[in-house]
Amino acid sequence: MTASRRPLIAGNWKMNGLSADGVALATAIADKLKGAGDVSFEMLVCPPFTLISRVADAISGSGIKLGAQDCHTAEKGAHTADISAAMLKDLGCDYVIVGHSERRTDHGETNELVHAKAEAALSAGLDVVICIGETEAERDAGKTLDVNGAQIAGSVPGHAKAANTVIAYEPVWAIGTGRTPTNDEVQEVHAYIRAELAKKVGESEAGAMRILYGGSMKPTNATDLIALADVDGGLIGGASLQADDFWGIGESC
Ligand code: 13P
Repeated sequence: MTASRRPLIAGNWKMNGLSADGVALATAIADKLKGAGDVSFEMLVCPPFTLISRVADAISGSGIKLGAQDCHTAEKGAHTADISAAMLKDLGCDYVIVGHSERRTDHGETNELVHAKAEAALSAGLDVVICIGETEAERDAGKTLDVNGAQIAGSVPGHAKAANTVIAYEPVWAIGTGRTPTNDEVQEVHAYIRAELAKKVGESEAGAMRILYGGSMKPTNATDLIALADVDGGLIGGASLQADDFWGIGESC
């Protein structure tokens, strides 16, 4: 964390939540933020598509940002069941996540596709959270930096700015497992990502761009992770489904 970059605490609800519990969760988080007044961090919730509209109502006026978990590359057209970035903007979204490892694995998303989705999101006026991260096999093979470098090179648009783009480093093997890299390992990868970003978007944008850590972040480990020089917040799965845990991670900023 560095004073010049405002930490972002982002909740990725994944495929969780029906109307009642989704609205209750969003309302509980909004109440905490309203009660806290001015905070040093920015808060973002990314519910499933089905809850975006209801969550938008529940967090209205709270200052919490709203995001989706994916978008299509096209603005509109014959793409059954897909959702465009323009549609998300129209629903009140501020952000969209692209390239989550679950999309890369479950849907075969490549760096090229993630890049195209990021372009679509930026064109629609959304801010984008671009996810990258190595698998356990890649880490064991000593390829962590190479894999993350290639994902930055392939997924991030060259005209991305710190004002509209966030990178989320999520080691695949740390997601939902309770395992995390050591703090030194996290800082090493984040510093490397920032150096690779500089090649892509220039030193000054890379220096100002937020790089989140994701993978088993909880209130108990968030303080140490977010204190690392090149960690600018978190992308949180499981712990974002409990208002107290999610808020506790925010408080650790
Ligand atoms: P967990 O916090 O459940 O490990 O998930 C992280 C993640 O994938 C967020 O996008």
